[in-house]
Amino acid sequence: MTTNYENINHIKTLSKKQFDALYELNQLINSEVIKDSLIEQALDLVINVINAERGLFTKYDSEKKDFSIISARNVEQENIKVLSNFSSNMLQEVIDKKEPVLYHDLQSDPHASQYDSVQLQNIKSVIGVPIIQNENVWGVILADSQKDRKEFTEENLSFLKFFSNLFSSALERVDFVERIQDENLILLNQLQANEQLPDMIGNSDAMRKVAKLFHKVAQSDATVLIYGESGTGKDLAAKAIHKLSKRKDYPYLAQFCGSIPDSLLESELFGYKKGAFTGANSDKKGLLEVANKGTFFFDEIADISSPLQAKLLRVLENKEIIRLGDTSVKQIDVRIVVATNKSLEKLVENGEFREDLFYRLNVFPIKLPPLRERREDIPLLVNHFVNELSNNELKIDSNAMKLMQQYQWPGNIRQLRNVIQRAVILCNSNRIEAEHIIIENGKNGDGFSGTLKDYEMQILKKRLEEFDGNRTAAAKSLGVSVRWVQNKIKEMEDDKKILTDKRN
Ligand SMILES: Nc1ncnc2c1ncn2[C@@H]1O[C@H](COP(=O)(O)OP(=O)(O)OP(=O)(O)O)[C@@H](O)[C@H]1O
Ligand SMILES: [Mg+2]
Repeated sequence: MTTNYENINHIKTLSKKQFDALYELNQLINSEVIKDSLIEQALDLVINVINAERGLFTKYDSEKKDFSIISARNVEQENIKVLSNFSSNMLQEVIDKKEPVLYHDLQSDPHASQYDSVQLQNIKSVIGVPIIQNENVWGVILADSQKDRKEFTEENLSFLKFFSNLFSSALERVDFVERIQDENLILLNQLQANEQLPDMIGNSDAMRKVAKLFHKVAQSDATVLIYGESGTGKDLAAKAIHKLSKRKDYPYLAQFCGSIPDSLLESELFGYKKGAFTGANSDKKGLLEVANKGTFFFDEIADISSPLQAKLLRVLENKEIIRLGDTSVKQIDVRIVVATNKSLEKLVENGEFREDLFYRLNVFPIKLPPLRERREDIPLLVNHFVNELSNNELKIDSNAMKLMQQYQWPGNIRQLRNVIQRAVILCNSNRIEAEHIIIENGKNGDGFSGTLKDYEMQILKKRLEEFDGNRTAAAKSLGVSVRWVQNKIKEMEDDKKILTDKRN
């Protein structure tokens, strides 16, 4: 911290003006959070109180043995830009002594009058105080006068000592605040650049790419079409868009459109007027109206009937809804997100889906990759679900993990989650083992949708594991030559290498 300059009794020698200035500085210190402004205002205060003509605040770089101006001012409260306007010898003297220096009459002082810089600048009197931080000289406050001799007094020196003490603790605080502010900015920036979606696990290149798209599109009001195989996380992604958007504090509503009677779906979405149909005993708001200012997610959009497709088109085109049995049109402000695991293009081709609606929905299509195309995410997801489903009580064995990394997951993340849920139930110790991993139909090959090479590799890996890596035994059991096995292993290693090279 600060060094205690000599004697507190000095304070008694301060004039009212100087006391007031210290008080003012104290207030400044408590209100100012920007270092440069703090210094500038403090310097003006010093110049004014001790009747100096000029004041200088310099920072000292002890490694380079160099000074830099932080602020230099004259009585007119103008900035002085060049350090050589001041006496460098004086600055050095303060640094060397680590003590305040005061010369009432420089020109008649046998020692100081020898300084070139004093002569050059024609300095008559000068006062200099070190600012100490962590026992090192952080900088120097210098005040001088080119006009008058005998300008500064011992009293001024006491004042500056107090001033410098107060100031150095303020510096620490401002440094701290500045550091926090910088860290804050960095964190904020990282958050914005974050390539992950809220609640969605996945760090693979494939996931990061789609996450970037989601982050971008979330900032707009564009309609988003999410497609991808079943269980890839379309529901979750729709919610993520909402959470990332400026609508996040307004409602998020979702409606599943598959296998639901048309009339029911319509009254849910658009609402109805009393008497619109039997059972409509009072007016009812539709979900689209309830979602005003928020986001509405149509899940399985491919399944909606042709009359409803027409109504939805109106919503998208005019942002208008009409309640069933009503005549008045209501304006709504809702962002639409839709999802499907069917190909809307194909449905359009077959005349099962309106082309105009398709174009309205296909403004910003995003495909969620199947799990088998982002295998790197499997361990992350497995650990996430094990923790979630076992309340952090279970761990997963490496063989069980391997098994799951090799599987193709035709049902994607939903299937993976189900498998882990089963394993958590079956597990009777604190570790999920391979035997607890029961994949539908008991065979890993079921629902396989990878390439033949993938399939070969998967079987070979399994056999090698079964035979503890013994290539001859694995080859024999597969009815192939040892050479075949060796070639495949080499292929596998090469593939892995390409993958790691790519990542690096
Ligand atoms: N990236 C992910 N991180 C964590 N959990 C996920 C992720 N993606 C999906 N899930 C979970 O997997 C399950 C299936 O996800 P979701 O219902 O969003 O899939 P979907 O694509 O909508 O499937 P479907 O087409 O069958 O409706 C959910 O339990 C969901 O929470
Ligand atoms: Mg879904």
